[in-house]
Formats: sequence, C-alpha cells, structure tokens
Amino acid sequence: MPLDVKKIKADFPIFCQEINGKPLTYLDSGATSQKPRQVIEAMNSFYETINANVHRGAHYLGERTTKAFEDAREKVKKFINANSPKEIIFTKNATEGLNLLAHSLGSTLKDGDAILLTHMEHHANIVPWQLLAERKNIELRWVSLDEEGKLNMEELEKLADGVKIIAVSAMSNVLGTINPVKEIAKLARNQDSLVVLDACQFVPHSPTDVKELDCDFLVFSGHKMCGPTGIGVLYGKQELLEKLPPFMGGGEMIINVTTEGFITNELPWKFEPGTPPIAEAIGLGAAIDYLDDIGMENIREHEISLTAYALRLLTEKHGDQIKIYGPSEPAERGGLISFKYGDIHAHDVSQVLDEHAISVRAGHHCAKPLMQELGIGATVRASTYIYNDETEIDQLSIALEEVRDFFKLNK
Ligand SMILES: Cc1ncc(COP(=O)(O)O)c(C=O)c1O
Repeated sequence: MPLDVKKIKADFPIFCQEINGKPLTYLDSGATSQKPRQVIEAMNSFYETINANVHRGAHYLGERTTKAFEDAREKVKKFINANSPKEIIFTKNATEGLNLLAHSLGSTLKDGDAILLTHMEHHANIVPWQLLAERKNIELRWVSLDEEGKLNMEELEKLADGVKIIAVSAMSNVLGTINPVKEIAKLARNQDSLVVLDACQFVPHSPTDVKELDCDFLVFSGHKMCGPTGIGVLYGKQELLEKLPPFMGGGEMIINVTTEGFITNELPWKFEPGTPPIAEAIGLGAAIDYLDDIGMENIREHEISLTAYALRLLTEKHGDQIKIYGPSEPAERGGLISFKYGDIHAHDVSQVLDEHAISVRAGHHCAKPLMQELGIGATVRASTYIYNDETEIDQLSIALEEVRDFFKLNK
C-alpha cells in the first residue's frame, strides 16, 4: 500500500517549522531519522508517570517501569522475529553492539584466526575488529566491490575460506547496496563461520527476520528508525550468547558478587551492566509500534519507488554533472543516494542546499576505506525515509541547478 506521506509528516513536530523562510526538506535520515509525536509522548509520559529504575525497587513505580522496559524488549523481539527476549540486548547504539561482539566474541578466537570484512563497512564495523587484531594475532581479510558498488561475491567466497567470523553490513550507508546476506550466511554455514550483520541502515527500512537472514548476530540503532538516540540493539542467537563472556562489569549483569569473584546474570541482563537507557528503550518500543502501523513492507516499497524516481530525475536533469554511486537498480539498494557534483566539493554543495533548507550529509560518512576504494574524499548523501516524497526530490534537483549555476558548470 502506498504511504500517506502527508499524514505521516504531520506526526513529526520538527516539520512544523520553516528554515530560512522555507519548509524543511530533511534528506539526512541515514544519519538519524526524525521522531514522531508518538515516540516523544511515550518518553514524556514515562518520565511524568512511572519513572523509576528497573529490576530493583519492589514498589509500584519500579514494577511499572520494569514492565514497560521489558515490554519494549518484547516488541524488538517480534519486530526482528527473534526466538526469545533473551536474544535482545539493549545497548547504547549499534557501535556499542559491535564493540561488545569484538570484545566478547573476539575473546573466543585464537591467535592466527581470521575475520572477513568488506570495503564498504562503516568504521563501527571496522575499528572494533582492528582493536581486537591489535590485542590478538588476528588476520583481517577484505572483500572489494565491483563498479556498481556490489560485493565481489567470487572473491568473498575465496576469502571466506576458513574465517571464524564474517562481519558485513546488510546495507551500505554510502552506496545503498543491499548485500546478499542469505547467500553469505549459507556460505558461512558450510564452514562453521559466524555471521555478524551491521543492520543499522537495513532494519529501519525493510522487514527484518533474523531467522530468514540466518545471521548469528545483528546490530542496529534506534535513532535511525524514528526512535531516540542512546538506544541500540544487539541480537544474538541464544546458544551463542550463553557461551560468551560479558563485555562490561557492574550491577545488573551479576547474580552474586563476593570478594572472591562474581556469578554472571542470565541473558539478556548479563550484557546490560548498570542502569540501562530506560526511557530510550520505551521510546524505541513506541517507534516500533509506529513503524508496524505503517507496515515495513509498505515502507520498503515506498523507498524503492522514491529511489527510482530520484535516480531517474537526477540523471535526466544533471546527467553531465552528477556521478551517483551504488547499484543502478532501485530494488537492489536502499533510499540513500551518494553523489559527486562536477568537481565541486561535497561540503560546498551541501552548503548551497542548506540555504534552500535541504539537509543532506557531506563527507566520508565514516567509511574511509570505501572512499579510498572509490578514489574520492567525500560525497554528498541524500537519504530518504517515510516522511519524504517526490516533491522533495524535485526540490533537491532544483537546488542542484542553482549549485550548477553558482559554480558556473556547463549544463
Ligand atoms: C552502516 C552503519 N553502521 C554503523 C553505524 C553506527 O551507528 P551508531 O552511530 O548509531 O552507533 C552507522 C551510522 O551511521 C551506519 O550507517
């Protein structure tokens, strides 16, 4: 079903304002999404009515808060079709989830073991493994990309031979490429490797079923899917999480502590030391309700159709000047479009767009190895979500015409 973008947009208070006398065209949801009133109200209501700590106070507020917090975990479980809430660890963001894995899963690796990464990874799925490789003698192998920004699968198959972990993004935050995760998981199954999915750009935009994807671990951040900042999710298969040592120590992650040592708590709390992000988890639960009401299938269809429109329009109107990265087929990519415009620096392009109240991101997008592979320093990235429609892509195109005229490029 097509999205009623006008109705959706009305749910987001941020769009009530004008910037530089113009309505806000927000094309930076790849960095963080805007938040609907329903999420803001759920968090306000928590603070106004039941605020307490979780799993501690045996009093009215404490019990209500604990229930609301654990209900949010149940919503996440259903949203990604996990088997049990024990498989859902609340983190601060996706970055923390990946660091947790590099630490805890990394501690199970032996000197000489190998991990497979790709050139399209976000730094969050690179640096934690590099830190591990500094602590232990771990080999990091890298899969390159083809001209359309898709993984070289033949190379991946060869390099995957004997690796312990394949850590790959489900969708690139620069190219939009949606990776053949099921194929990668099948390869991993044949040789006893574990699959870690960075699904930061995937989960907010597509129906996600961890069983169908057949991944062992998956991470994402709440703030890219209409939820608040400060909350992320690490999914892991229960039997694997059971075997991993904790990441950080403190209250909540223990059953008992003596001067001699400690006994770790059950899942999922074993990985949640200290006071968790309670209001944020409740906000994420409200975001999931909101997205579920719209329907993740509908969201994905909207994204494909908007991406197709954007690719067509930008190529038609700016073909001589624009270089768009990533797959040309909209169904193979997500709703973010990275491009270079003539020889103008990405920051200059974004500054002119900003004068038109169009928010895009310019830079290396925390993907420096990818920039190196592409042979560039930066791109402009326009990324869409449920509150964007074709008129905003038109606005982007018109503003790019001004960029072209301002910098005196040929038409
Ligand atoms: C693909 C990908 N992975 C990881 C991250 C890190 O997310 P966070 O900063 O929320 O931890 C991002 C954020 O942009 C991302 O796009």
